[in-house]
Amino acid sequence: MTRVVTLKIDDIDATGREDETVLEVALEHGIQIPRLCALEGLTPVGACRLCLVEIEGTGRLLPACTTRVAEGMVVKTNSERLRKYRRMTIEMLFAEGNHVCSVCVVNGRCELQDLAVRLGVDHIRIPYLYPKRAVDASHERFALDPNRCVLCTRCVRVCGEIEGAHTWDLMSRGIDSAVITDLHTPWGESDTCTTCGKCVQVCPTGALFEKGMAVGEMTKRASFLATLAASREDGR
Ligand code: FES
Repeated sequence: MTRVVTLKIDDIDATGREDETVLEVALEHGIQIPRLCALEGLTPVGACRLCLVEIEGTGRLLPACTTRVAEGMVVKTNSERLRKYRRMTIEMLFAEGNHVCSVCVVNGRCELQDLAVRLGVDHIRIPYLYPKRAVDASHERFALDPNRCVLCTRCVRVCGEIEGAHTWDLMSRGIDSAVITDLHTPWGESDTCTTCGKCVQVCPTGALFEKGMAVGEMTKRASFLATLAASREDGR
């Protein structure tokens, strides 16, 4: 039987099931935690580290999206230390890619851009790397611009877990990490892609987009996921 636990999040008395994460319980109590890789309906992977929280008695910062709640836990989600870490993480994401918002299809609707604004990132203190990454526009309806990819792996997970196609995957390590289709074949030549567009809808930035969209024109709707996940639960 799943037990209910009580804990404190930002001085608010909270209750949650022991199989829930800190992020889930925080959201249920109206507490927002910055995040890029977590998305309701997908398995959390703790990839972006933006949701790091302080937990009393633990020296390390822990990701709220993958850490389970426990009885008596005391959690801080918005200390100066956390805000500093989050700003630095956002700065590193900007420096690592080519995020030129003024020429991006999701300008004004981008989760990375929103977080940067919310966290007060108005300049980057580390050198830009200006990587040269080729755009894959071989698909008839969609395109991938890896210059804007933050490696959140939402596309990989939605394709594997929800669509069941497993077209997307990650290759390489460190600075060379990239999302790829099939065995690194052009997206348009993929044998597994069903052209469902789920990957495009859950991508938090302009890395995946529909062809024919002008600057600031692309609106994404990831809300289908929670509905799909809930209806599958009901059907069990
Ligand atoms: S949202 Fe938790 S690590 Fe990305």
